[in-house]
Amino acid sequence: MTTTQQAADPAPFLSLSSISASYGGAWVLRDVSISMKQGEFLAVIGANTAGKSTLLKAISGLMPKVTGAISFMGHDLIATESHRIPALGIAHVPEGRHVFPDMTVEENLITGAFTRGRETSIAGTLTRIYDLFPRLKERRSQPAGTLSGGEQQMVAVGRGMMLEPKLLILDEPSLGLAPMVVEEMHERFHEIHASGVSVLLVEQNVSLALESAERAYVMASGEIEFEGAARDLANDDRIRRAYLGI
Ligand SMILES: Nc1ncnc2c1ncn2[C@@H]1O[C@H](COP(=O)(O)OP(=O)(O)OP(=O)(O)O)[C@@H](O)[C@H]1O
Ligand SMILES: [Mg+2]
Repeated sequence: MTTTQQAADPAPFLSLSSISASYGGAWVLRDVSISMKQGEFLAVIGANTAGKSTLLKAISGLMPKVTGAISFMGHDLIATESHRIPALGIAHVPEGRHVFPDMTVEENLITGAFTRGRETSIAGTLTRIYDLFPRLKERRSQPAGTLSGGEQQMVAVGRGMMLEPKLLILDEPSLGLAPMVVEEMHERFHEIHASGVSVLLVEQNVSLALESAERAYVMASGEIEFEGAARDLANDDRIRRAYLGI
């Protein structure tokens, strides 16, 4: 995009324009375009291997090969080294939690603050995270590996929130969790969203994703198949047949 175009067209919060991405072999994402407004709660849904995690990795600079353009608040993410992306305000909670099992809950959370790139009070952020997840406060001195799956997912989300992000990216945060825990997690995501953080959620539970998000993209085989208001997609017969089994 040229400077003149940027001046005429105010930079969107997050935009992916004609992204293709590969791990070294075939293209896994093909010509994917997505845009997100600041303050939005956006979901990306789709079947296994559709390319959802790959899309999130492309945003976070973790894909070996990407073509197209990705911009976040005026920054060119493709030109930004991956280790500098968190400091721009993007927290990526990857699929599979990945807590450090031998470190305590609090030590795990504090690792999330290392990449935030500015000096603010870690204690203040920790307090906010413990308000959000009181269970983590109770277990702050316990090794994270001894927690339940749901509690480990809270640690993973809390670690992302330690960045005080503008954009929170969540990859399948409810995978393998009991339905009640999943509901509780989604309530927390709504609180996070209500506090002013934009949320980009990848979720295998399509009905839950469409309940939580305001808008969604549906991916199939590395491409965007549908896009729209979550409510409209939830009522769309094609989505209902393919993803909701109705
Ligand atoms: N590290 C990798 N190296 C090579 N190919 C990969 C790698 N990770 C994923 N792929 C391939 O990329 C495609 C998309 O995978 P991706 O993980 O993005 O799908 P997904 O939509 O997140 O699926 P799931 O719902 O199972 O998490 C798949 O065909 C997968 O095999
Ligand atoms: Mg995935």
